[in-house]
Amino acid sequence: MKHAKKHLVTAALPYANGPLHIGHIAGAYLPADIYVRHLRNCGEEVLFICGSDEHGAAITLRAKKEGITPQEIVDKYHQINKKAFEEFGISFDIFDRTSAAHHHQTAQYFFKVLNDKGVFEKKASEQYYDEEHQQFLADRYVQGTCPKCGYEQAYGDQCERCGSSLSPLDLINPLSTLSGNPPVLRATEHWYLPMEKDSEWLEDWITKGNLRGEYHHDSDNWRKQVIGQCMSWINAGLEPRAMTRDLDWGVPVPLKNTAGKVLYVWLDAPIGYISATQEWCRNNGKNWKDYWQNTSCKLVHFIAKDNIVFHCIIFPILLEKHGNFNLPVNVAANEFLNLEGDKISTSREWAVWLHEYLLDFPHREDELRYVLTSIAPETKDSEFTWSDYQARVNNELVAILGNFVNRTLVLTHKYFEGRVPPHGVLTEVDQNLVSEMEEIPMKVDRLIRSHKYREAQFEWMKLARLGNKYLADTEPWKLIKSDKERVETILNLSVQLVVNIAIAGSAFLPRTCDKIFEMMNWNAEPFDSAGKPNHLKPGHIIHDHSLLFTKVDDEDILKQIEKLKKKPDGNKSIGKKEVFLPEISFDDFTRLDIRVGEVIEAEPIKGADKLLKLRVDIGSEVRTVASGIAQQYSPEEVIGKNVAILVNLAPRKIRGVKSEGMILMAEKAPNNLSFIEVKSNDFKGSRIK
Ligand code: MF3
Ligand code: ZN
Repeated sequence: MKHAKKHLVTAALPYANGPLHIGHIAGAYLPADIYVRHLRNCGEEVLFICGSDEHGAAITLRAKKEGITPQEIVDKYHQINKKAFEEFGISFDIFDRTSAAHHHQTAQYFFKVLNDKGVFEKKASEQYYDEEHQQFLADRYVQGTCPKCGYEQAYGDQCERCGSSLSPLDLINPLSTLSGNPPVLRATEHWYLPMEKDSEWLEDWITKGNLRGEYHHDSDNWRKQVIGQCMSWINAGLEPRAMTRDLDWGVPVPLKNTAGKVLYVWLDAPIGYISATQEWCRNNGKNWKDYWQNTSCKLVHFIAKDNIVFHCIIFPILLEKHGNFNLPVNVAANEFLNLEGDKISTSREWAVWLHEYLLDFPHREDELRYVLTSIAPETKDSEFTWSDYQARVNNELVAILGNFVNRTLVLTHKYFEGRVPPHGVLTEVDQNLVSEMEEIPMKVDRLIRSHKYREAQFEWMKLARLGNKYLADTEPWKLIKSDKERVETILNLSVQLVVNIAIAGSAFLPRTCDKIFEMMNWNAEPFDSAGKPNHLKPGHIIHDHSLLFTKVDDEDILKQIEKLKKKPDGNKSIGKKEVFLPEISFDDFTRLDIRVGEVIEAEPIKGADKLLKLRVDIGSEVRTVASGIAQQYSPEEVIGKNVAILVNLAPRKIRGVKSEGMILMAEKAPNNLSFIEVKSNDFKGSRIK
């Protein structure tokens, strides 16, 4: 395996306007991290760059919404996101930020170089202005009806319903999101990047990898949809795009008489890759030009599909016009990850937030890595569901990987006191195992380098599948009495396989593989040693073992589903699948003892304005129940109702009341409840089933 020795890898700078969710992770950061860790394991030099994108209207809007300054917003989310990335184990060399002074300097310098070269065209135009707030409206600040699909809350840059990219002037019935008034048009001037003339070389570069007559990129491995999206932009004709904005938050335009103007966030953010590289180089005694300007360093961008045009068209044009910069050898863009049948959305809070996952599932980072890579949206949108998460952890990580490693270690301890046994002559099953063990890591390497992470991880898991099959086929536990020598060989090979699993897989599941190395009493080895059938010498003592993974319980999953159901959209089933709780058995159902009971007394509970204390006659006895219905029902209203009551719920003390059951209510929304009532009066005490 001979490969480039120096790599610069970037992952899209996340906006510091909200926390990270699993869509971000699956879209860009996890595949980037796997790629980087793999290259490092192969002994290649990698610089892995990221940081917060702290400018743009998304940030100022969020600040307005929360009633604080943009700086406060970005300080808050930069910290939250940086910490979540660290805890999750995304191995950036630097996580910088675009509000930093060094970034402003670099971005301004870059702009000036381009401006001095005459790259931009200064043009007057009319733009929407909010008279009440006395400011020009960024695209995002204008909302109106989408001309393409009729959605009434489309933004001036994009319709979130149909995905069309828009300009504010396209919107029907535009309104300012600041004042709610219709905006007026006002004259302004901006610096535009003309792009039409660049179509030709862009097309040549994107589709064939030709750049300045040289063969430049990794064209075999560019994803079809990336090339497709770029070509549809190019074929539609590349319109000039404004590189400046009228906004009071961002990198000020470094020219005279430009007060109130800043660089367009999509100009300043990608330059963030460069400024972060410079910052890291300053702190580590390196020269940033070795990464950006030396063609032997291979640049790869990791992004989601909504960033393609910026990374494959606009930023490359800027870099070429500036001169002396490398263009990416690949832009590994992913499609979107959906959640439980609906698009993930920060504003609708329909998301699984990374920092919350880390709290709710401590020490289970690798479980999430595994699942997100298994369903990586590499070629089309894919979907995360909690029940799929549970199934993959329990049926694959626990039952296949964890099980094989555990069985191997248990048997080695049991039969050989934890010493690696020697091996004898290899039989055909052994030889087959050895040859798979040698081949699979090479496939994994090829797949990762062609950005097929999903397949790569699947291929890697085959090692553990093979291991289980090998033990099942050879049945050492049956041979231990009659043929100990044979068992020595079987366990010798199993132990070697365990080590190889850890060597070949640490880019996918770094913590798990570290744990395996620790249990094997062995140090991580470079990837190119993966596949060797003789890492551990006979006599090597392995440590005690512990389980690599534990099952995810129904309860954990239930909690997550309940959490989603509390979100503003959680109870709506329009336009998406309803989220149901995990399946239960008929037996589970029959364990619920639900009866008809008549409410015979009701009174408020002091100090608990949501609760009523009810006395419910269930025929054979009268139960006391604290019920959370007080905001909707007065005591008088509920007396005499024949309701459904769960009578075998363990009693609980609620606000000093011993509650001996639960009244079943239909809940449309908080405080929008309805009793499950039985019309007839002579069902008291009957079971509901
Ligand atoms: N902040 C942008 C987003 O989340 C991505 C910026 S990527 C960069 O969509 F290239 F501009 F840095
Ligand atoms: Zn639309």
